[in-house]
Formats: sequence, structure tokens, C-alpha cells
Amino acid sequence: LLSLSLSLSLSLVFHDIIAEDFEDSYHNLTLKTMMGMRWASSFCPNARYVMKTDSDIFVNMDNLVLNLLRPDAKPRRRFFTGHVINGGPIRDTRSKWYMSRELYPESKYPPFCSGTGYVFSGDMAELIYKTSLHTRLLHLEDVYVGLCLRKLGIHPVQNSGFNHWKMSYSLCRYRRVLTVHQISPEEMHRIWNDMASKKHLKC
Ligand SMILES: *[C@@H]1O[C@H](CO)[C@@H](O)[C@H](O)[C@H]1NC(C)=O
Repeated sequence: LLSLSLSLSLSLVFHDIIAEDFEDSYHNLTLKTMMGMRWASSFCPNARYVMKTDSDIFVNMDNLVLNLLRPDAKPRRRFFTGHVINGGPIRDTRSKWYMSRELYPESKYPPFCSGTGYVFSGDMAELIYKTSLHTRLLHLEDVYVGLCLRKLGIHPVQNSGFNHWKMSYSLCRYRRVLTVHQISPEEMHRIWNDMASKKHLKC
């Protein structure tokens, strides 16, 4: 609630927060992602690419744009990339990622991209949203997107630039990645300032 009221007041200042009418909880993450897919397909139908990421992720924008999205190249279609996970459901009820057999009986998940950060071509937003309308909701949003991709016959492409674990900061290391997980707001400022002020440094 605190974060919701904070978001809404910031929204009055910057007009850049979209909210929908559901409780913003970990278990509702899939709803939030599908709301984003619907929003992107309605209001950004011509976007070449869309990225979904979390607030504790460092995103190397230069690398993302110049090396992955490549404005000079022909835009990709039916393209989905990130840190690809080939896993299966965790049946331990104490786990954050617990999945019951009732909800998901299979022993393997289809390949999915870690929800910490993934990028897809603009056409995917509508395809995923429409597929979700006839796909039973699962609370693990990245697994759920993977299920939609399987239905669509699309294979997510592994890119090792997406780091879904923490990586200690060094200018030269962070210059080579696309994302790094678990960055606090203070670190985020420090990293952005450091990278911006050392553009002349070669490594
Ligand atoms: C998801 O949001 C709905 C609507 O606000 C709410 O009723 C429901 O309890 C939420 N579910 C979870 C698991 O948080």
C-alpha cells in the first residue's frame, strides 16, 4: 500500500506510471505482466522491441540498443530473448517458486526467460496477451510467458548478457553486460554516475 501510494503520487508528477485495478502482490505478478503486454499491444503497436524488467535490475542501455536491438538492422519478428532457463516445478512448499501438482502436473517447464529481464519484438506483446486469454493463469510470470511461447511455437533465444544473479560492480565488466540483478537504488545511482563520467576510459 505504501509503495502504491508512493507510485501514484510520483505518477502525478511524472505521468509515467500505469496502474490497473488489482492488488500488486508477488502472486499477482502474472496479471501485471499481461497488463503490460496488453498495454504495449494497444498503445505501442509499432514498437520494434519491448523490454520487461524489474526495478532492481541494472540495464546497460548502450549495449542493449547498439548490440542487441541494432537500429540499423532489419527489425526481428516473433523474437524473444533473455536468460533462458530449462527447469521444472519446485514442489517444496517453503520455496518462493513453489508450484503445486494441481496447478502444474508436468515435471518440466518449457524453456522460459528469467523474469528479471527479457526483450521481445513488438509483435510478441499482442501474441502473448491473446494467448493468455485461453491459458490457465500461473503465478510465476516468467514460467507463464514460457507456456504462452510454447503454444505460439516460439523458442526463446539465450543471450548470456542477461545476468540473473548479482555480479559485483566493475566498470569494465558492467560495460559488457545487458542486465545485472539485485542492485539497490543507491548502487544504481552510483553505477550510472560512474559509467556516465568515465565514457572516455577504454576497457
Ligand atoms: C490479485 O488481485 C486481486 C484484485 O485486486 C485480489 O482480489 C487478489 O487477492 C490478488 N491475489 C493475490 C494472490 O494477491
